Amino acid sequence: MGEGLKRKPSPIMSNDKYQSGFANHFATEAIEGTLPIGRNSPQRVAHGLYAEQLSGTAFTAPRAENHRSWLYRIRPAAMHGTFAPFVQAGFHNDFESGPVSPDQLRWSPLPLPETPKDFVEGLFTMAGNGSAVAQHGVGIHLYAANRSMQGRYFYDADGELLIVPQQGALRIATELGLVEVEPQQIAVIPRGVRFSVELPEGASRGYVCENFGAMLRLPDLGPIGANGLANPRDFETPVAAYEDMEGEFELIAKFQGHLWRADIGHSPLDVVGWHGNYAPYRYDLRRFNAIGSISFDHPDPSIFTMLTSPSDTAGTANLDFVIFPPRWLVAQDTFRPPWFHRNVASEFMGLVHGAYDAKAEGFSPGGASLHNCMSGHGPDAATFEKASTADLSKPDVVADTMAFMFETRAVIRPTHQAIQAPHRQRDYQDCWAGLRKRFIAPTG
Ligand SMILES: [Fe+2]
Repeated sequence: MGEGLKRKPSPIMSNDKYQSGFANHFATEAIEGTLPIGRNSPQRVAHGLYAEQLSGTAFTAPRAENHRSWLYRIRPAAMHGTFAPFVQAGFHNDFESGPVSPDQLRWSPLPLPETPKDFVEGLFTMAGNGSAVAQHGVGIHLYAANRSMQGRYFYDADGELLIVPQQGALRIATELGLVEVEPQQIAVIPRGVRFSVELPEGASRGYVCENFGAMLRLPDLGPIGANGLANPRDFETPVAAYEDMEGEFELIAKFQGHLWRADIGHSPLDVVGWHGNYAPYRYDLRRFNAIGSISFDHPDPSIFTMLTSPSDTAGTANLDFVIFPPRWLVAQDTFRPPWFHRNVASEFMGLVHGAYDAKAEGFSPGGASLHNCMSGHGPDAATFEKASTADLSKPDVVADTMAFMFETRAVIRPTHQAIQAPHRQRDYQDCWAGLRKRFIAPTG
């Protein structure tokens, strides 16, 4: 990646780096005249490029759910050496066997590496459910990396990747353009799209949700109306950018739960122009329009859904990506922090920034918690004491926070390495031990 991307502002875009909108039919070219007019695969593509279709859904998926892009590139994606197994023992999908404990679990942040590791080498699988074979479920991973991918390109054939940086920026060079994200932004890389991750600010850490199910989409808004939560115009998709580079590079593939490596004699990030609605995007979580109660009680946390991967059961998601951004709490006669509950869904939480209002301590930025199906959880003792006696005549503001949840319909199974990890907090359940008995039976 030493030469960097050869990038020119697209002549057909008003913004020279990103195009606004969610899953729009975009059209972008780094060299004027690249895109064919009125057809997708002309006999000869301009500038001696090859035409290639990248389909993210079945050819015959209904129009509203059909995602594909046409790429015009220097060499077809078929050109690379033979794949051989690639060993990165920490990154896998081995979470679908054996008993799983209903314990509430929590982890401190994953330590940054002490030896050089890039994004692929720094992935650490925490938990998951389903599989690429089953085409439902998720893999939940952390990453901690301290160097850019060098001459290495990666794609995930098993699922799209929702990347949530917590520390340090990522410069993700993809086949379809550059996606730059910092903490409190997210990136989504579609299944199969090849990319390379650079670390412009050095060491970096964050969370990755690998979605084996239906592609993430915006939730329906129902009575909320046409506006609110994550607004479509705030999603940004890159304009075309390419590198014309030859050398001894490698292509890493994640395929059916395992990693493979092939030699490749050129950069696969050689798409000069593309059009379609299958493309990476980024979103700034600080643009989320949080909606909540202005009278009493809480809406369910689904009111904070940013993206959802539906399952084949209406209203029951394969994956909801739910965020807890800064917000005002004004509800009267209400315990204002998240309350005690048990849930048929399973919840993996992370914290990008600041503090989370249901926990006084122990859940720090970069940390994680897992509350599985029907396992009780809620505010710790210190938070309960404070919130149950708070003065509700004034609004509270949760100003310095950005927590999130990967919520799934299926139980989230922690990996062996996550259970054994030194950064797991083995005393997590003690946070509720101080909830004293308050019941006083009426006398007489
Ligand atoms: Fe919960």
